Amino acid sequence: MNNSYEHKPKLVPYPSNAFVPERDIGKRPVLEVNHLGIDFGGLTAVDDFSIIVGRTEIAGLIGPNGAGKTTVFNLLTNVYHPTRGSILVDGMSTAGKSTHQVNHMGIARTFQNIRLFSNLSVLDNVKVGLHNSMKENFFAAVTHSFGYGKAEKKADAQALEFLDFFHMADLANAPAGSLPYGAQRRLEIARALATSPKIILLDEPAAGMNPSETAELMENIRRIRDNFGIAVMLIEHDMKLVMNICEGICVLDHGKVIAKGTPDEIKSNPKVVEAYLGKAKEA
Ligand SMILES: Nc1ncnc2c1ncn2[C@@H]1O[C@H](COP(=O)(O)OP(=O)(O)OP(=O)(O)O)[C@@H](O)[C@H]1O
Ligand SMILES: [Mg+2]
Repeated sequence: MNNSYEHKPKLVPYPSNAFVPERDIGKRPVLEVNHLGIDFGGLTAVDDFSIIVGRTEIAGLIGPNGAGKTTVFNLLTNVYHPTRGSILVDGMSTAGKSTHQVNHMGIARTFQNIRLFSNLSVLDNVKVGLHNSMKENFFAAVTHSFGYGKAEKKADAQALEFLDFFHMADLANAPAGSLPYGAQRRLEIARALATSPKIILLDEPAAGMNPSETAELMENIRRIRDNFGIAVMLIEHDMKLVMNICEGICVLDHGKVIAKGTPDEIKSNPKVVEAYLGKAKEA
């Protein structure tokens, strides 16, 4: 697939105060979340979180530190099971599913703190992602107990394609842990993409990156959407990145949604400005 999308699409209203890009109207949203919430003991970390993400939307989830953003990703992937609310991935409920099953249903993610198999090669890390998307048991092949069979050659070729997408095929045999930080972040995205998701969740993908790496990341996020025809939802503190590439943005503060809208709407929303300035004063 090599669709190209306009960078500033029109957002059109959807029921329940949600928006999707105009091009995604008439198609089932990739993600429909209603009144999601979780309590940890007495603490309500996320409450009444609802969002609709269009099939090819780049969506942003922002908010001050501790607002509940990562908790939302943990709820969407069933790392935490919700106390309240529902999640539909391409129309199917994730209730009661394992994280692995949710991945199969179409949600892949990366983590705020990189999680790679640092002793495995770059290629094998991507093959772990491929394995998750396959029906036959591939894990044995990844760990070499099958020898170098035909199936493994095919997996090697597929994994290399994902690496090539990020211009890192030449690093295939290096241990993942030996890569510079920015390359490790790209590898984590490659591994997530190898699971053939319908939506990929990126938790602070630009954290620790220099401006040129961030610019490259921005381009890569657009390429992911355009080439794979999937949706992207990102948590990010880099406002330049968020405002440049996100179509719909949702703002969390103290576990609640305080605003939703286009980048321009969010930038000028007094509640959002207050949430960020308030935190700056507390700090
Ligand atoms: N497993 C848990 N047990 C108890 N409290 C938790 C748990 N996970 C998250 N929390 C709490 O939920 C709140 C939201 O945390 P979360 O990590 O989702 O914030 P965040 O928006 O991702 O922040 P940051 O921008 O710093 O990454 C915090 O008060 C945190 O301490
Ligand atoms: Mg977080």
